[in-house]
Parts: sequence; structure tokens; C-alpha cells
Amino acid sequence: MNKQRETGAQSITVIGSGYLGATHAVCMAELGCRVLAVDVDETKISRLAAGDAPFFEPGLEPLLRKNLEAGRLHFTTSYDEVAEFGDVHFLCVNTPQQDNSDAADLSYLDAAVAALAPRLRRDCLVVGKSTVPVGTAVALAKMLVRLAPAGARVQLAWNPEFLREGYGVEDTLRPDRLVFGVTSLEAEARLRRVFAPIIEAGTPVVITDYATAELVKVAANSFLATKISFINAMAEVCEAAGADVLTLAAALGQDPRIGPRFLQPGVGFGGGCLPKDIRAFAIRADELGVGPALSFLQEIDAINLRRRGRIVDLVRAAAGGTLEQCSIAMLGAAFKPNSDDVRDSPALAVAATLHQLGAAVTVYDPVANDNARRVHPQLKYADSVSAAMADVGAVVVLTEWDQFAELDPVALANLVRRRAVVDGRHCLDGDRWRDAGWEYHAPGRPGSVPMAPAAVPTQRTQRPALPPLAPGRTGAFGRSSSDGRR
Ligand code: UDX
Repeated sequence: MNKQRETGAQSITVIGSGYLGATHAVCMAELGCRVLAVDVDETKISRLAAGDAPFFEPGLEPLLRKNLEAGRLHFTTSYDEVAEFGDVHFLCVNTPQQDNSDAADLSYLDAAVAALAPRLRRDCLVVGKSTVPVGTAVALAKMLVRLAPAGARVQLAWNPEFLREGYGVEDTLRPDRLVFGVTSLEAEARLRRVFAPIIEAGTPVVITDYATAELVKVAANSFLATKISFINAMAEVCEAAGADVLTLAAALGQDPRIGPRFLQPGVGFGGGCLPKDIRAFAIRADELGVGPALSFLQEIDAINLRRRGRIVDLVRAAAGGTLEQCSIAMLGAAFKPNSDDVRDSPALAVAATLHQLGAAVTVYDPVANDNARRVHPQLKYADSVSAAMADVGAVVVLTEWDQFAELDPVALANLVRRRAVVDGRHCLDGDRWRDAGWEYHAPGRPGSVPMAPAAVPTQRTQRPALPPLAPGRTGAFGRSSSDGRR
């Protein structure tokens, strides 16, 4: 590597300026690197360059502005500038689920490398951060050497990212661990320099090969998804047995071998990562001839999707037995709080199904209404909780924003036509709502409506149960992640 460039702040580029890339670019600048971030979306780049974060991520915008002002952070749409500028290039593009398959769509990643590689005329390190099927890095390393004028002086490393949306800044500046998949000491040394402040703060570093680095990410997300679906499976059993899944989860979580995190039952997981990652991982295992090792992930997916059907059953019961003509307030559209991301959002999937089943659904989310409207324009959207709740027959909470947990059920009681609430995230104080005269329904808790037959599969391999649909209607909780994909 070029010795002159070894001294002082590192010049890094970030390719792809979405949730992962923009957060990474801002945080790397905050750590002292000179950063140039690129994206093919001109609007996104001009907003970022003007200090305006194009998505909701707490804490990101002040750091974006601070580092723009400090002159450490720049944005461009030019790959020529990127190739010229960077000693280290981070690949942060999206790898969504393919439209017609469960496999990962690597077209954005391939396009990024195809745009970058022919412009690489000097030694540099390309670092993959995108979530990919194991084996991708080896193929990309060969592609880089083949296409780059600098040939073998361009090296590749794999450095998976574990950031959670909503905590992206914190997770990038203070990660649990760093994983470096490398094939040379030189690549490792360069990554250690880029991440020096994080490493000096005591963050463990795992040095490994490409394949292991790629697998750490999908294995971690599979484990988390499994933990969530485990407790949701327990919720199904609790519903059948008259037990309380919240008490069960609390008792399980006391065991330090199990731990309480990611053991919150409810409507299940969504978002741009967990659902598509477990599906793509299962497909890759199949390709590698070890499909049976990951066949359990189909069950994890099925349990997860069944929870959406279960919520529909609870809403139907809360609404008095029928959804036809019923007006419903849906509180929450984002796949989780502190995010405006609606990709594979359980809240929106349930809202769309309720609409399909004849209900008039009004959605309110503190930050995700606009993104939700783009994906589901057929739903109504309100600007406040009280506007969404006016004269409705049932209220459903499916994203656990703090402001929903703090709602005053007494003050809201006179807004609605029928005092019935479904708490699909267990974020409300059920006793408080009952005391205020509300019918309170929560999945997996005693007193919840008995399981509808459609929500209880009898065959082990059965696909996700769909909520009952009116004759002639189609679709429900499919396995596509195309809703809201960016
Ligand atoms: C996840 C991983 O946590 C992160 O490490 C990885 O880099 C990207 O994927 P993210 O998608 O941002 O992050 O969200 P996460 O906090 O993991 O939540 C995923 C989904 O699971 C959300 O819909 C959330 O509501 C749900 N969830 C989470 C539960 O239903 N129960 C839980 O106990 C925890």
C-alpha cells in the first residue's frame, strides 16, 4: 500500500448512502476519517450534502451537520471521484430479497463493484459490509482483480455490519465486536487503522476468513429471529393453554443462559434484514448441499408470519366479530420504533389485510406515515393519534413507540365508538386501559380470544397460515419483502 497515505487520517469512501451507508459515512467522519460517500440517487445525495438526513435515525442529523461543517464528510454521485479519493472503499449497498425468490438480490452490489473496479488505478482496500450469501466475497475479490487497472494491488476484506435501525449511530461508534474477513496482514492492518478509535476503546476484533465473516452476519440474524419466533411459538401455546407468555418470557429471561433480550412476543419481526436474511440463508444452505441444516428457518419464518394472522383474529374479535364496515385505528406503521422504515413491517401488513377484509383502516405513525403511504396508498393516514382514533370500532397498536405506551386511556375513551384495543406489542398497561373501561386484547395473554382454527396449523411443514379472506379476495401475509423496499 502507498506509504504516504498510511499517515494521518484515512481517506475512505462509502458506496451506497442508505440506512447503513449514510450512518457508516457519518460515524467514520466522526471518528476522524476523511469520508466521501456516493449513491446513484441524486436526491438522496443532495439532501445529505445539505445536512438533511433522508431517513429517520435518532442522532444522525446533528453528526451529519457537524462533520459536513468540519469538512471531513462529502457526498457525490461520481464514481471517478470515489476511485480517486479512497484508500479504503466500503461497500454498503442494499441486498434485498429477490422479487420472485427467497434468494438475495446482489444486483446493486454487482453494479457498485462494476462501477468502481475499472476506475481503481492505485492500491486500495475494498471492504464489503453488505449482507451477502456466503461465497460472495471470493467472487467479488476475483472480479476486482480482473476489472481494476491496479489488478492485485486492489484487495478485498469483509467486515459485516450489525447495526440496528434506531440505534445506528450508537452501534457504529460503539459496536459489540468488529469482524474482519481478510486474506492478508496488510488488509488487517489497514482495517485496524480505520477503526483505531473503536479498537482502542476495547471493542473485540475477530480476524477470520471471508466465508466466516460473511456467515457471522446471517448466523447472528438467524439466531435473533429464532429467539423471537421461539417466544412467539410459546405465545401460541399460552393462548391454547390459558397461560401468560409475558410472565413466561420474564421467567425464561432470568436464566443467564437464555437472557431477556429478543424475547418480546407480539406481532413478530419485520424490517429490511431479519426476514430476508433468514430466507436467503436457507436458500444458500440448499445451494451448498446442506439445506436440512437450516430447514428450521422456514419454521421460524412461518411462526413469525402466523403472528400477523393472529393479530387479525384479535382485531376481528375486538371489533365485535366482523371486520366488514368496521373502522380501525392502526397505531404504528414502522417495523419498529425509532425508525421510519416500513420494509416488511408487521404493522402495515396487518393494516393492509384488515383493509382487504373490509375494514376502513386509518394509520398513524409518528414518523413513518409518508413511507407507509407510498407502499399502501389504499389506507387512510392521520396526523395524530386522536385523528386516527376518532369514532373507530377498534384501536390496534403494532409499533411500540413510547408515545403510544404513554397514551391516556381515560382521555381517549370518548373519542372512539367502541372501547376496544389490541396491543400487539405488549406496550400498553392493560390494567390501566381496562380500568378506563376498555376491552384489552393482547396475544399470548390470559383472556385473549381462543385461537381461530386458521391460525393453528396441524402439519409440521405447513406454510404460514393466512387469515380467512372473504370469497374472491386473494393475498395476505406472503413471504415477499417487496413492500416498501428502497
Ligand atoms: C437487525 C439486527 O438486530 C441487526 O444486528 C442487523 O444488523 C440488522 O437486523 P433491525 O432490523 O434494525 O436489526 O431491528 P431489530 O432491533 O433486530 O428488530 C427486528 C424486528 O424484530 C423488529 O420488527 C422488532 O420489532 C422485532 N422484535 C425484536 C421482536 O418482535 N421481539 C423482540 O424481542 C425483538
